[in-house]
Amino acid sequence: MPPPAADLERLKAELTAEIAAAGDADAIEKIRVAALGRKGTVTELMKTLGALSPDERRVRGALLNALKDEIAALLEARSAGLADRALDARLASESVDVTLPPRPERIGRIHPVSQTMDEVIAILGDIGFAVAEGPDIEDDWYNFTALNIPPDHPARQEHDTFYLPGERESPGGRARMVLRTHTSPVQIRTMMRAKPPLRIIVPGRTYRCDSDATHSPMFHQVEGLAIDETTHMGHLKGCLIEFCRAYFGIEDLPVRFRASYFPFTEPSAEVDIGCTRVGGEFRIGHGDDWLEILGCGMVNPRVLKNCGIDPARYQGFAFGLGLERIAMLKYGIPDLRTFYESDLRWLRHYGFAALAQPGLTGGLNP
Ligand code: PHE
Repeated sequence: MPPPAADLERLKAELTAEIAAAGDADAIEKIRVAALGRKGTVTELMKTLGALSPDERRVRGALLNALKDEIAALLEARSAGLADRALDARLASESVDVTLPPRPERIGRIHPVSQTMDEVIAILGDIGFAVAEGPDIEDDWYNFTALNIPPDHPARQEHDTFYLPGERESPGGRARMVLRTHTSPVQIRTMMRAKPPLRIIVPGRTYRCDSDATHSPMFHQVEGLAIDETTHMGHLKGCLIEFCRAYFGIEDLPVRFRASYFPFTEPSAEVDIGCTRVGGEFRIGHGDDWLEILGCGMVNPRVLKNCGIDPARYQGFAFGLGLERIAMLKYGIPDLRTFYESDLRWLRHYGFAALAQPGLTGGLNP
């Protein structure tokens, strides 16, 4: 009988050479099956242990187990080395040009409401406003009372407001549940939660009992609120003029402030932009006509007081605008109802390519 280790040494040398010569994962796998598989050489040698005496079996069994482990480790190392080499080769031969523009999106389109919201957030975000949110289901203290809208105000009427069944305890006592009629209740929530200085915008859904070509029972607004010790009407005007010009992409767009009334601002103004009326359509820019696009004013001291903010120390401005309205004006969409009909042909026509980046330069209608 040959010394117990000589044949194993030979086998090990053979397998080691084969593994070193293996050029890819397939070759490695073939060697593994031929050596360690169910009918492999090492496995077959294991099966011969049963015929040996206990002493011989102990010695040869240990040697065989060690051989098996060594071969497995060599296979493992070789296959990791091959994978590294393959990766290195790919890295050397391929390159990624990070300056290429994104591939055009073939299926999805961004809805004009989402696009307009992104644009407004980008512009006002650049000016320094952070996005805040609040619930669509409000109570009439947040939606009306705290905003200095008295119980007999016409906005509270059932034909304007969707009331929901039920009441709840609110900071001002029992309050009826409503679908918020504007984003202004988030002003109240923000001022009750945080101390000035505050600079927030609130994009979100709003609800009014209205439906025709320019009114939808659900629509979107963006609210703005800036509160600190020194903000004055000049800041309000500067901010909104900058916003209108950036959004419509017209550097010298005429913007005018017309005195108006809102219970929650004093003084209040409506903002008009210059336009020309051509037939039934508007052309935004220099012209002989004006078009109202948003409401604004200095926050009424009563509103500050309702939120626990000292009106002798703090002041600020607020504004609110309808997203669909400014989307219709900028992108020439004639009928508000079409926004919510989920007609893919409409979306293909009016929608936006994904990854279009809004910015101070205005919308990017491709
Ligand atoms: N909330 C008002 C509306 O829905 C808009 C507005 C907001 C006006 C803030 C002034 C200040 O009509």
